[in-house]
Amino acid sequence: MNISHIEHIGIAVKDLKTAIPYYEEVLGFICYNIEEVVEQKVKTAFFKVGETKIELLEPTSEESPVAKFIEKKGEGVHHIAFRVENITEALAECERKGVQLIDKTPRKGAENLNIAFLHPKSTGSVLTELCQE
Ligand code: CO
Repeated sequence: MNISHIEHIGIAVKDLKTAIPYYEEVLGFICYNIEEVVEQKVKTAFFKVGETKIELLEPTSEESPVAKFIEKKGEGVHHIAFRVENITEALAECERKGVQLIDKTPRKGAENLNIAFLHPKSTGSVLTELCQE
């Protein structure tokens, strides 16, 4: 698999409005995009850090996987996303190598990326996202 860089780090927050000022006023980043991903029941806010982004995730419903994550573990780092050249091939390679997939086929994520999640059971408990532009 050809991973070029960490595309983003996903961070679960209860409320974007409360979370954003730390990133803007302390770290000096600019929130350049706020976007709702209806399918995943989250509202996202993005900051650029070099080639990598920070993706804040606020659940929009109790049934959101991010709401369940916060309930269990509290706010904090939720997932790490790697940029791959060809997500379909990367998923096939993962499957061949015995990695449990959450998404067998890529779907549309925030920022118009094609994304797929690998199961934490197979990744040393780190929820891992692959994405392709
Ligand atoms: Co993500």
